[in-house]
Amino acid sequence: MQPQGYALVTGASSGIGEEFARQLAARGWSLILVARSQDRLEALRSDLMFAHMGIDVLAVALDLSVPGAPAELFQRTQAANLEVNLLINNAGFGAFGEFASIDRQRQRQMIDLNIAALVESAHLYLQPMMTRKRGGMINIASVAGFMPLPYCAVYAATKAFVVSFSWGLYEEARQHGVQVTVVNPGSTETNFFKVAGKSPFSSRSRMQTSAQVVAESLRAFDRHRPFAITGVSNRSLVRALALVPRKWITLVVGKTMRRAKMSTS
Ligand SMILES: NC(=O)c1ccc[n+]([C@@H]2O[C@H](COP(=O)([O-])OP(=O)(O)OC[C@H]3O[C@@H](n4cnc5c(N)ncnc54)[C@H](OP(=O)(O)O)[C@@H]3O)[C@@H](O)[C@H]2O)c1
Repeated sequence: MQPQGYALVTGASSGIGEEFARQLAARGWSLILVARSQDRLEALRSDLMFAHMGIDVLAVALDLSVPGAPAELFQRTQAANLEVNLLINNAGFGAFGEFASIDRQRQRQMIDLNIAALVESAHLYLQPMMTRKRGGMINIASVAGFMPLPYCAVYAATKAFVVSFSWGLYEEARQHGVQVTVVNPGSTETNFFKVAGKSPFSSRSRMQTSAQVVAESLRAFDRHRPFAITGVSNRSLVRALALVPRKWITLVVGKTMRRAKMSTS
């Protein structure tokens, strides 16, 4: 998609979101960067404005898990007359540990961010794109969305929601000339595991870099794909999982997680 108007990236202060901002800026997109850490967003904004002449970059510090935050963001971009033609719904976090032991508020915040904020942002920004018959959205789910994950149950369920929701939206949006792609990364080198806690999936040797994940995401989006799993081994894993009974998956994952004694931060 040719850069036109603004790309809005949620969770742009680190990891995959920051890398989306960098690769989109290199393609000539003006950007709206959203996350809670104002200092990190401002630093990235200066960096990108210096490196790429002619683009505009705005930093918006906002906690998207707070009810009404996506609507506040939409009002601010509307009031400033910023035409958002690309929405990267990326902000999200996970928590490893026994469901009953993880703080309830934390689990609720995860659902509010990973699901509610994503759906609300999609609703707000999709309507104007459909009217203009131009634009697109990339929703970041996870390979965790393809399997029940004991000791990471809520996170996996939020990502299963994003996968299903995005497939449905893809077909609706397509009728109005708007592209929706859901991207499913596997373990990726970011701050994710610092936030989510230790897990057997946090071994660096098997991880993709954010740069690889974002390059594959943008390639899938450019090719009008509804769906992408990044990384060859992640694609093989998801294909293999489809052949295994769910009960076996939960038994094996549960055992692996218990052995690794994962902990929440
Ligand atoms: N890394 C992996 O292994 C992996 C695998 C599959 C999928 N994913 C998904 O990839 C996405 C990006 O995660 P990442 O790996 O890049 O992790 P990350 O480095 O921890 O980045 C998460 C981003 O989300 C932002 N964020 C967190 N809570 C927020 C809130 N309440 N409001 C607004 N922004 C918030 C963070 O910024 P602030 O803290 O400044 O708010 C940060 O910019 C997530 O949806 C994650 O589930 C990651």
